[in-house]
Amino acid sequence: MKTNVNLRPYNSFGFDAIAKYFVEINTIDDLQTLIKSGVLRKHKTLILSGGNNILFQKDVFDGLVVYINTKGIEILREDGNEVVVRAQAGEDWPEFVRFCVSKGWHGVENLAYIPGKIGAAPIQNIGAYGMELKDSFLQCEAMDLTAGDTKVFTKEECRFGYRESIFKHELKGRFVITSVDFLLKKNAPLNLEYGNIKAYLEQNGIENPSLQQLHDAICAIRDAKLPDVKQIGSAGSFFKNPVISIEQFEDLQQQYPNIPHYPDTEGMVKVPAGWLIEQAGWKGWRDEHVGVYDKQALVLVHYGGGTGLDIVELAHKIQDSVEKKFGIRISPEVNFV
Ligand code: EPU
Repeated sequence: MKTNVNLRPYNSFGFDAIAKYFVEINTIDDLQTLIKSGVLRKHKTLILSGGNNILFQKDVFDGLVVYINTKGIEILREDGNEVVVRAQAGEDWPEFVRFCVSKGWHGVENLAYIPGKIGAAPIQNIGAYGMELKDSFLQCEAMDLTAGDTKVFTKEECRFGYRESIFKHELKGRFVITSVDFLLKKNAPLNLEYGNIKAYLEQNGIENPSLQQLHDAICAIRDAKLPDVKQIGSAGSFFKNPVISIEQFEDLQQQYPNIPHYPDTEGMVKVPAGWLIEQAGWKGWRDEHVGVYDKQALVLVHYGGGTGLDIVELAHKIQDSVEKKFGIRISPEVNFV
């Protein structure tokens, strides 16, 4: 166990935060030994994976950070059109997607290039370009942080929703996900429906894209819209897209006839928060240290030298101004620590 470790390399915003205690986990056995030692009961504990969806609000984390860095990808079953693949929690998500695509396995290609690690993916049911983790998720294994026992969670038990799962609610802080099993297909139709995928392919003269071409197109589309966290600190989308009632939506539509929207559950409509933030005048706003990304208003960025509190303050101002203009309170999808 190390002491006083700067977490800057472990959070994609790139904020300085000192962890009083820090331990890196490389095997499941190490994790179990740590839990059974009882040390987690003595300290406030933070399980850290890729750190791509986290905001440190304070300069010091006065507890124990458990950094999960277990590796390994194995094929559990391969028959007919199906492949079941297990990935350990510390595997890099975009590399895992590249690996599956290179093998010709369908199911995660639209989730290409999302920064993060396998273990964090189910927690917020990562999603992009018309696909969500849950679409190819079979089950995951997780370890109970009090007893050190492992438990398998089926898809139903995870209760996935839009950027949601049981691990963000009832089971928050109770389990650490140790591996995820995916059910992938060797042959399956490609999902080209979202946003500008088709336009991008057309512009690049690609008529019937291969799995690899779709993967590469999504990487290019993301690259053009989202900051590279190696250069500009961010946590991807900072807010969730709000879901409002049809009545509220229709009122807004009278005032703003061009308001983009997608159907959600019955009687509800999803509105892009990026549009609301842009209309409220924030796109491209910046001060010395933090700002709103100029190509995608849903992304708050850290240019360096700032603190988590600068982002918290900016987020509150944006929430207040969006609420004042549209009567909608947008909520963060990033986890505050
Ligand atoms: N829009 C604007 N201005 C902006 C940004 C967006 O007007 O600055 C409007 C446009 O009408 C656009 C629509 O919002 O057509 C949707 O924008 P986009 O396709 O960029 O998607 P999003 O809803 O803003 C979501 C995810 C992203 C994911 C993209 C693509 C959430 C919170 N975010 O963003 O996920 O990559 O769709 O599927 O659902 C993430 O979670 O970190 C993330 C990046």
